[in-house]
Amino acid sequence: MSEKPFIADHPLIQHKVTLLRDKNTGSKEFRELIQEITELMCYEATRDLPLCEVEVETPITLTRSKVISGRKLAFVPILRAGMGMVDGAIELVPAAKVGHIGLFRDPETLKPVEYYCKLPGDIGERDVIVLDPMLATGGSAIDAISQIKERGPKSIKFMCIIAAPEGMKALTEAHPDVPIYCAALDERLDDHGYIVPGLGDAGDRIFGTR
Ligand code: PRP
Ligand code: URA
Repeated sequence: MSEKPFIADHPLIQHKVTLLRDKNTGSKEFRELIQEITELMCYEATRDLPLCEVEVETPITLTRSKVISGRKLAFVPILRAGMGMVDGAIELVPAAKVGHIGLFRDPETLKPVEYYCKLPGDIGERDVIVLDPMLATGGSAIDAISQIKERGPKSIKFMCIIAAPEGMKALTEAHPDVPIYCAALDERLDDHGYIVPGLGDAGDRIFGTR
């Protein structure tokens, strides 16, 4: 049932991920890089969108050409850090709707704590892409996807920028039907549940908090 995760090997993505990791990259550049990487990743995550043919008149002649066949998408960022990925995703698919799921990881237990959920009313007609830059233990992604599944979307994909092997395994086991797209698969988690080498706390780096 579960497909192999998509791990980006595009040089542009790898270059931008290296800049993200650098502790000297400030919030403005960090936000721009997250947006750019999300745009590039969205090309891959939307590769299977179905097409149909329409008639179009060029300046030269009448011809048949392809358009996306009415597929409806929704992006669902996991707050806070997932918000950094929304602009990049919407840039590529402007007609998509955006839902929000609020979760934070309890620093002691590392378990997700839910505080918000607002999804498009017509989610049952939509293919959903969940956005979160970090997949660490996997708890937040698993919980968010479970909440979305309760509303019966057509399909769900999960897109992150950095994943730990532990989170990848946990998410694949919990939701084997959800394809995972990530820009980099890192080595491991440390004792505090941070990804090594990672990029630190994504939310703090996007929003300049600490
Ligand atoms: C971060 C990140 C993920 C979560 C990943 O959010 O954006 O949502 O941790 O960790 P997990 O895979 O172990 O659940 P955080 O809880 O720090 O909240 P924030 O985005 O509000 O800073
Ligand atoms: N959340 C983050 O923002 N960074 C990590 O390394 C792990 C969880």
